[in-house]
Amino acid sequence: MITNEFWLDRWKTGRIGFHQEGVNPKLIEFWPILPKGSSVLVPLCGKSNDMIWLAEQGYQVTGVELSSLAVIQFLGDNDLSYDTHQQGELKIHTVNGLPLRIVEGDYFLFTESEFDACYDRAAMIAMPDSRRAEYVTHTLGRMSSTASLLLISLQYDGDTQGPPFSVEEESITALWGNKIQRIASENLAQTTPLYKEQGHNVFEESVWRIQA
Ligand SMILES: C[S@@+](CC[C@H](N)C(=O)[O-])C[C@H]1O[C@@H](n2cnc3c(N)ncnc32)[C@H](O)[C@@H]1O
Repeated sequence: MITNEFWLDRWKTGRIGFHQEGVNPKLIEFWPILPKGSSVLVPLCGKSNDMIWLAEQGYQVTGVELSSLAVIQFLGDNDLSYDTHQQGELKIHTVNGLPLRIVEGDYFLFTESEFDACYDRAAMIAMPDSRRAEYVTHTLGRMSSTASLLLISLQYDGDTQGPPFSVEEESITALWGNKIQRIASENLAQTTPLYKEQGHNVFEESVWRIQA
């Protein structure tokens, strides 16, 4: 069962293989051109450096993350000073000198809306099948009617237990609505020996553009 406790424990025990040290190359390559000052939501953000890149492009970035350890590490690793205030069950950490906030708490309790854009890397695919539809509905509910979303998903063969979960193309298009387009895909099993060693012939990473 993938519960909040599961994720808190992953952070507590340092099992965070999903974290990438650099900025995700797919973000740099495929992020849509949006006016400076556009608000960007990063659900289930971990301590992703992608948020720094987005803020440096001049967007108003809001990451949402359950684990206080992830938040502390993100702020500490990047030498960021910040102010914190409590809003209901959520803690809002506002970074000084960068247009960036980290909301600490359960994403499903985060109800701000009218975001101009969303960046989902390893968020939807972190959700078990039973909560995936709820996650997509909740995320679309946070968006403005003209929002752009960039999603990175995975589909793989074999019997690996997620997260990350393998999500089929049909499931992605069914959940996100009809204004969705796959703009890139790469079979990582052909380029990264690790996936072959894990027994995968297919470990396909896809990038999707979605209009709300
Ligand atoms: C697979 S990681 C991806 C993190 C980040 N997107 C990245 O690319 O590194 C999923 C993250 O979602 C967080 N998470 C899981 N369930 C959550 C929830 N209900 N609300 C907020 N964060 C959650 C976990 O603590 C974890 O940091």
